[in-house]
This record gives sequence, C-alpha cells and structure tokens, in this order.
Amino acid sequence: MSGQNSKTEGALGTGPGVGKWWEKEVIYQIYPKSFKDSNGDGIGDIRGITGKLDYLEDLGVTMLWICPVYRSPMDDNGYDVSDYRALAPEFGEMEDLDELIREAGKRGIKIMMDLVINHSSDEHEWFRQALKDPGSKYHDYYIFRQGKDRPNNWRSIFGGSVWEKVPGRDEYYYHTFGKKQPDLNWENRELRRELYDMVNWWLDRGIAGFRIDAISFIKKDLTWADREPDGADGLAKCTKASRVMPGIGEFLGELKRETFDRHQCVTVAEAAGVPYDLMQDFIGDNGYFDMIFDFRYADLDIASGSEWFKRLPWTVKELKEKIFSNQMTMQRYGMAANFIENHDQPRAASKYLKEAQYNTDAVKMLGAMYFFLRGVPFIYQGQELGMVDFERSSIGEFNDLSSIDQYHRSLEGGLSEEDALRIVNLRSRDNARTPFPWNSGRYGGFTEGTPWLGMTEEYPKINAEAQRKDADSIYGFYKEMIAFRQNGPYSETLTRGGIAPVSSGDDVIAYRRYTEEEEIYCFFNFASEKCAEALPPGEALPIWGNMEAPGIQDGKIILRPYQAALIKVR
Ligand code: GLC
Ligand code: CA
Repeated sequence: MSGQNSKTEGALGTGPGVGKWWEKEVIYQIYPKSFKDSNGDGIGDIRGITGKLDYLEDLGVTMLWICPVYRSPMDDNGYDVSDYRALAPEFGEMEDLDELIREAGKRGIKIMMDLVINHSSDEHEWFRQALKDPGSKYHDYYIFRQGKDRPNNWRSIFGGSVWEKVPGRDEYYYHTFGKKQPDLNWENRELRRELYDMVNWWLDRGIAGFRIDAISFIKKDLTWADREPDGADGLAKCTKASRVMPGIGEFLGELKRETFDRHQCVTVAEAAGVPYDLMQDFIGDNGYFDMIFDFRYADLDIASGSEWFKRLPWTVKELKEKIFSNQMTMQRYGMAANFIENHDQPRAASKYLKEAQYNTDAVKMLGAMYFFLRGVPFIYQGQELGMVDFERSSIGEFNDLSSIDQYHRSLEGGLSEEDALRIVNLRSRDNARTPFPWNSGRYGGFTEGTPWLGMTEEYPKINAEAQRKDADSIYGFYKEMIAFRQNGPYSETLTRGGIAPVSSGDDVIAYRRYTEEEEIYCFFNFASEKCAEALPPGEALPIWGNMEAPGIQDGKIILRPYQAALIKVR
C-alpha cells in the first residue's frame, strides 16, 4: 500500500487533529507548467521539478502538492482531465513521475497529487462515448438534459450558462466550470466505482495523498429549478444550487470509505462554501477529509455574490476577524490548512500589502502571520521569493479562461476597456502562473526556449539564485522560519499547541499559541507606523521575528512598522 509515509509515533499533543502523521508537514504547491522547463519547449515539466528538489530540500518543505499532470487538452491547464491514469506528454512519462516520487522520498519530501473528480475534460473517452451514443452507459456518467432550451438559468463559475448544447441534438450537458469541463454524474454508482478504483490505483503508487479539486460541487439540486437572477446577464450563480447541497455527505463518506480509509494518506479538499457548523463532518475525527481550504479570508477583496471579480474595500481588522473565525472553527474540529497564495489567487504581497508589496519587511511579516497559525502551512511556488502580481496591458496577454470571461462580462456590464483590464489584472489567476524566476538570466532560467506565458520580468530582479545568496532575503527568511517552526526550541507549541486571538489595535494581528507548559504571543504589525500593544503580566522574552527584537516597556511591546515578533511569556 502507501509506500513512503510512516506513522508518527510518540506523545499526543492536545486538541483535535493533533497526533496525525501529517500534522507537522510544510506543504509546497507546484504549478508544473510554470515551475521549471527541462527540455526547452517553454512548458514546465516533471523532470524540471525533479531537477529542483535540492532547492526544495534546502528551503525545508516536507511535501509537494503537484497541480494536475494528468493527460489533458489543457483548456484549464490540467483541471480538465482526459485520462486519469496517464500523464500529459508535455509534463512527462509515468517513469518521470516515479522518479520524482523516488528522488523526493530520498530527501524526506512526500508527493501529494491533485484529484479532479467533479468533472473531466470533454475529450475524456467517457464523454466522447456519451456524445457518440446516447444509449451507452457513459451517457449517464455525465449530466444531460433534453430540450430545445437551456434547462435552467444557472451561471457557471467561469461565466455563461452551466448548460452547453450538444451539436446536432436537442440536448444540453452540464458544466460547473468551463465548457470543456463537463461535470461527472455522481448519482451514477458505476461512475463512482470507476473513480474510486482510479483513486486507489494512484494511492498504491506511493503518493502521500491528494488535494481534491472543487469537491463541494459534486451534488446538485436535482429539481434543477431556476434561481433568482443575480447579475446583468440574467443568470444566477450556480453555487446556490450546486455547492455543499444536502446529500453530498453520502458521496463524500463513500469516497472516503472506499479509498482514503484504505490507505495511510492525507487529504485536503478544496471545499469552498462549507458552512462552519458542518465542519465536524468535513474535518472532524471521522470527517470526509483531513483538512479543507477555507476561502473566507482569501476572498475578502472581492464580492462573493454574483460577479466575483467585483472589488470590495477591506481592512486589516476584517482580515483579522476572518482569520480568527477560521482558526477557532478549525481548532474545534481538527487542523486548518493555512495558505495566503495558490494558483487561483493573486500574489499575497500584492493582495494583502497593496502599496507595501515591495517592502521586504512587510512581505516577511505577512508570511510569518499565516505561517504560525494553527494547522498545516501551504507555500505556493514563488511566494518564498515575494513574487508580485504582473500587470498585463492587453487582454491578449492572458491565458486564464476565467480572466478572459470576466473581461468580456465587465465590458457587457458597462465598464470601459481600461477599467475592465484593471479589474481583471487585479484578480487574474495568471498573476500566480507566471514562470518561476530561477535566476537573473533571460526568462529567469525557467526555460531555454520561450515561456508559454509572459514572465513578470524578462531578466528577473526577484529571483531564487540572488535570494539564496542573501540571508536577509525573503527566501532566507522563509527558510529560517520553516526551520524554526519545524525544529526550533518552540516547535511543539508552534505546531501542536492551541491558538487563541489576542486583542490588539486595528492594524495589528495578534494571537497566542499555547500548550500546558508554554505560551507564545505572536504580533504582526500591518501598518507603516510603529505602535504599542499590551502584553500580559509576566516576563516577556522575544524569541523570533523579522527584524531586531522589539522594545518592551511598562507591560507593552513597541512594534516597528511591519514588524513580526514572537514573544514567550512566563
Ligand atoms: C479549482 C482549481 C482551479 C480550476 C477549477 C476547475 O478551483 O483550483 O484552478 O480551474 O477548480 O477545476
Ligand atoms: Ca518542457
């Protein structure tokens, strides 16, 4: 069965989720297309990742989450799988993946794969068969409705109706995301069985677990009734009728019993929209998954309703409140999955720090703020260099299908071309997908050819090689921070301890990590001015931070602009 994980023995800490073999992992997310190209075709690949394992080992991460590398026409860069048991040739051969798993294992790094089972590609054999022969069993592997008109008014996540007409027939198929990503019909037992077999097949290959894509969408409202329109297009966002719907637990419970439970693996689900009062079912002791990604604070800059690219003003105080409600909820039931970036989000420095995005103190402070929360930290490639968003000057420079859709919808909604471009630039998923800058050479050493997507800079100033030589760099800081959390003298408290909010000024996020033996106060000043925060009574000892230790006077800590400071209180 699972090859590389061994159960962590030893004293259990306290609190839900503590004592699992994966509790002390630091997970690094790789977007393969943009990480490292090994053969000059401009597209990152598996051998590229293998060639950079020394870099990842040096950084100190213990697990990699690899975004989909399965066979795919790449309409959504691999989130449209046409064969679950084969790899995309541009990414490599199965032997390359086995080599990556093996070589990573030698360095103590495990591999987590992406699992995309809400939908497949329209080029999957099942879908081809379903189209070719409506009488075949594969027709029921997908969601088809007969009729001349669209069955209802639901809007897909990437825009437009969820229904796409089948050419030559009065029939429509359903897609939550893009048109080339038809949803699988989870109501069909045989389909579910095929998926479970495939999941087990992968787990048997020695991977450590899965990040599970868009899984809260697998159950739909089977009445298919129209919803109240919520946008200029007259449609209603499909989440209202297809996300975390009643009955989804039966599918998720079965998935777990038939697959994950039979292996020693770790699972983290992309499960947007799970109400906090259902968290026990999702990540509790016997939950469907080990962890879930919660987007409540990641998405605080955009309207959650109809048109998600619409900007919302937000404050550090709101960010703080959202983080604490996430943390206190997750702690009640299990472990949080903490992140500030991923391949769908803008760069964290640009989003959370705005005009301070190039201020290295601020970038380090932000990194530490989420890193010492309770749970498993995820780092997205390039985050450890403080990469920033890339402003594109015309819609033709974008690859992300959702950005292109949002641009056109913004225009339809009455925005000027200039405003539409500005809005799309701020939230485009391409911000995080620009190729990784390895050095200051042409295309940052990412490729010998021409990169598939424009680079942030052609000869990058922000690059891994320069930062690795500089202990004061953001990379140097991440490396030290990882080592401090994993192996430092306070590791037990920082990984297995509890968390509680500490009240602080509006621009400061402060929390306390604790065990029965130890208490560590963590302060993060998001302001460009210094400030003072109250400390509890007792002896206060600064133990770690992003700059010279803060002053402590009359029971107060004096924080410099953008200071992060961990204080042990006795
Ligand atoms: C998830 C992925 C995203 C993808 C979508 C459809 O949200 O993170 O990149 O486009 O699912 O698979
Ligand atoms: Ca390549």
